Amino acid sequence: MGITFVRRFLIREATIAEFDDLREFYERNPDEHVMFRHDDAVKKAISDGIFLIAIDTSLEDGDRIFGASAVYTVNAQRDSGGTIVLKEAGGSNVKKDYRGFGVHKVFHWARSLHKFILDRGGFEVYFGAIICPNDPSEANIAKAHFLPWDDPPSSLVTERQAYADPENGQSVKFYRLPKEALVEHAKQLLMQDKREILERRVNDTVEQVETHLMLETLRSYRRIVENLSQGDLGALD
Ligand SMILES: CC(C)(COP(=O)(O)OP(=O)(O)OC[C@H]1O[C@@H](n2cnc3c(N)ncnc32)[C@H](O)[C@@H]1OP(=O)(O)O)[C@@H](O)C(=O)NCCC(=O)NCCS
Repeated sequence: MGITFVRRFLIREATIAEFDDLREFYERNPDEHVMFRHDDAVKKAISDGIFLIAIDTSLEDGDRIFGASAVYTVNAQRDSGGTIVLKEAGGSNVKKDYRGFGVHKVFHWARSLHKFILDRGGFEVYFGAIICPNDPSEANIAKAHFLPWDDPPSSLVTERQAYADPENGQSVKFYRLPKEALVEHAKQLLMQDKREILERRVNDTVEQVETHLMLETLRSYRRIVENLSQGDLGALD
């Protein structure tokens, strides 16, 4: 008789040893809203420590991953000439039967805080691009306090428009995160860490799963996150 593992969710950074499992996760759960990323970009996000995964502990090996999300480094041409390095919150994908627990929201909070803490001054260029329509993703980016980005570099727009199918009513929308939104992200992440439960309501039933945030941001930078949650953005200067 096999061992039955308890179902808990873990949200943590992926390690480079999980690269093949991650590729398989995206291949097995294709979605037209997820933009393709080259292996090198995925490996860089993992080695930067900002490729997050959600794991179901009741499953084994690669099957354990049910959600993934990263911050990618993107080089674009400035309209005025020269190049600019951008940071993109992207690649979010949650398996269909795990949606609705709010894992994507946790990804949003954890990614931005991690990037902000590590990159400090590089934050102006933290953005998200969504192939629309995509109701859950648009709702979540608004709930995470991103604002429409009206003037992304033309080179970036051209590159990303290729993912949309205008004949089917699709377009790509760009958003950026104002620094002040991190206060709310810090509050939410700390609350979620304390609560240790994610839940969803399906019809009249509430399903709860014990969830642990095993994030470097909370382990190594908790004091900075706590200061941020109190509104102290200056703690990072
Ligand atoms: C977008 C996506 C990442 C959201 O992930 P998620 O972890 O389910 O996000 P949430 O749990 O926060 O759900 C978002 C909203 O959709 C609703 N929802 C989506 N699927 C649901 C489901 N199966 N059951 C219940 N609610 C669901 C939630 O209620 C929530 O609305 P609310 O905030 O008003 O409660 C996920 O739908 C997905 O992987 N989609 C395909 C790929 C994609 O679009 N990626 C984003 C690219 S920009």
